[in-house]
Amino acid sequence: MPKQAKATPEVAGIQTILDNNKQWVAAKNAADPEFFHRLADGQTPRYLFIGCSDSRVPASGITGTGPGEMFVHRNIANMVVHTDMNLLSVLQYAVEVLGVQDILIVGHYGCGGVAAAANNKQYGLIDNWLVNIRDVVRLHETELLRIQDEKQRLRRLVELNVMEQVRNLAKTNIIQNAMRGDKPPRLHGLVYDIADGVLKDLEMSEQVVLNDMAHIYSTQAVPAHPDQPAKDEFSDSYEGPQHDPSQEDAAKLVLA
Ligand code: CO
Repeated sequence: MPKQAKATPEVAGIQTILDNNKQWVAAKNAADPEFFHRLADGQTPRYLFIGCSDSRVPASGITGTGPGEMFVHRNIANMVVHTDMNLLSVLQYAVEVLGVQDILIVGHYGCGGVAAAANNKQYGLIDNWLVNIRDVVRLHETELLRIQDEKQRLRRLVELNVMEQVRNLAKTNIIQNAMRGDKPPRLHGLVYDIADGVLKDLEMSEQVVLNDMAHIYSTQAVPAHPDQPAKDEFSDSYEGPQHDPSQEDAAKLVLA
């Protein structure tokens, strides 16, 4: 009789997870036999969570949300970087397809990414990511330098970073267009304290955020064809270039 093959170290390493999963499936089915059938039909999550990859900040655990309730994106230091295709794709899908109502930027005190950005050491490739947090330091340097205690200064930087990422959300055309729609999403900045488990709302108002920056960052969709003005795209306050049919011939002459 052949000896039973021993589990490879890799499988043994995740055996606990597989066992936990079996127990979880059994418990869910016992409590609600339709649970998985319902989820398999599709998702309409109310929330988009953008948080740090830190293992101590599990999105569902700290928010009390279960499967189907929260769309999640995590990266180092909960950043909204405008060249990050991953974040932008998640944001567009969550807002335009899933129609999430609340978008949460969730930072956390004791964030290693924020702490790394606050010193002048090199860490390799990640330095290029941390530059985005150093930009937050530069923007708020005066306030940060006033704080003598280093721990308190880092805690404040965590908060300022969250607030800056909420602003970064508001700079995207995805959010700007959604704000003009029927169900504008709400933007929230929150900070989680890994020392006591408390999630604090920084109580930012997306309208204040949008209005403060509108003169610089607000953009409007332009019509694809000059003769077909985009419907409802131009608000009364739009002051950018408008199509003037009387100038068409003059433009043709220039192009010829
Ligand atoms: Co972190």
